[in-house]
Amino acid sequence: MAAPSSSLLKKQENQELDWLEWLRGWSRLLSEGLFQKIKAKHLPRKYPLPQLSGLSCMVTGATSGIGLEIGRQLAESGAHVVMAVRNPKAAHQIIEKWNDRQPNSRLLNVDVMEINLLSLESVVKFAESWNSSMKPLHVLINNAGIFSMGEPQKFSRDGYETHLQVNHLAPALLSVLLLPSLQRGAPSRIVNVNSLMNVVGFVDPNDMNFFSGKRKFTSLRAYSGSKLAQVMFTSILARNIPQGIDVLCVEPGSVRTNVARDLSKVVQIAYQCMPSFLFDAQQGSRSALFAAIDPDIPKFCGKLKAEKLAVCAYFSYSCRPIKPAKAAYNEKTSDLVWEKTLDMVGLPSDAVEKLLEGKEIHCRYGSSL
Ligand SMILES: NC(=O)c1ccc[n+]([C@@H]2O[C@H](COP(=O)([O-])OP(=O)(O)OC[C@H]3O[C@@H](n4cnc5c(N)ncnc54)[C@H](OP(=O)(O)O)[C@@H]3O)[C@@H](O)[C@H]2O)c1
Repeated sequence: MAAPSSSLLKKQENQELDWLEWLRGWSRLLSEGLFQKIKAKHLPRKYPLPQLSGLSCMVTGATSGIGLEIGRQLAESGAHVVMAVRNPKAAHQIIEKWNDRQPNSRLLNVDVMEINLLSLESVVKFAESWNSSMKPLHVLINNAGIFSMGEPQKFSRDGYETHLQVNHLAPALLSVLLLPSLQRGAPSRIVNVNSLMNVVGFVDPNDMNFFSGKRKFTSLRAYSGSKLAQVMFTSILARNIPQGIDVLCVEPGSVRTNVARDLSKVVQIAYQCMPSFLFDAQQGSRSALFAAIDPDIPKFCGKLKAEKLAVCAYFSYSCRPIKPAKAAYNEKTSDLVWEKTLDMVGLPSDAVEKLLEGKEIHCRYGSSL
């Protein structure tokens, strides 16, 4: 029998490595699920926030779960909070409840703005509206996300797979378009609420939309892939923006929220019955609040940038730096994900530079910005 060629061996070796990495990823996920409460024991249940008056913080998906908790705590600490939500009515009802709980009838400084991440046109309109106010933005928290577990493949009206659009494309577009406001608010931050599921994710930059049929679609693949794509894009964004704006990812842990709304009834009941392992939303909001407010974050991000590390800063549910998926260290793939993402969201390849120089750009999903 002929000896296998070296390229075949290399291919086999790579596949084996990927497979091993995937297994390692699942064991990391299992250990998080089982031991997160022990590993985060050093943290108080509620993240201790300082007085935040004068700070403008925007939170997507602030009507439920982790985002609702992030919004409430920032507002109660005195920040101006913009709830960026698809259901403004629900947001106004939430604010009413928050205000009812305030001592001395003090009203919280909260605004509601409508955004539907399933529509890139809506994202552009939202960003245009905020940017035109010329107000500075200090913190953008890209929290909204979906995990339609077990559901068949669905596409947005823009033609993109829905996990990819809500969890990666729309937040990427929002982050880039809001750069002028974040520059005005510098030192400022973009915090992406990612997921440790990125460690079992796979991104094919030539098939981010699961269209080619090369890989079978499952919601798990789509979710984990969208979160990995977000880490890759964030790493290149961090490299391309000047000091003063930090961009990073966090994972909240396994948290009891409405994220399981699409699960079957049986799995939902099992999920809700795991309180001893799961965080509640308050515990799940700690890493995002830490990343948004901790004064040492710029130093940490600056150090990573100076070391020219391939990946962005990434913090775990216990507010400690962790490594994302090994695949996220592949700069060539991350560069491709960056290029494809800008193309998919209708931005020119030099959008970041132009926006930071105060120049106008054109987005396919809206007018000139
Ligand atoms: N829970 C976990 O265990 C866990 C683990 C790892 C990562 N995460 C991440 O944490 C983030 C928050 O999730 P969660 O657990 O708090 O889930 P959740 O309770 O389902 O909250 C998700 C939020 O996103 C909003 N949203 C969904 N689709 C949207 C769209 N098209 N446009 C605008 N907003 C939209 C929802 O709005 P509506 O209220 O209108 O539906 C809701 O406010 C997500 O990015 C998720 O991937 C969660």
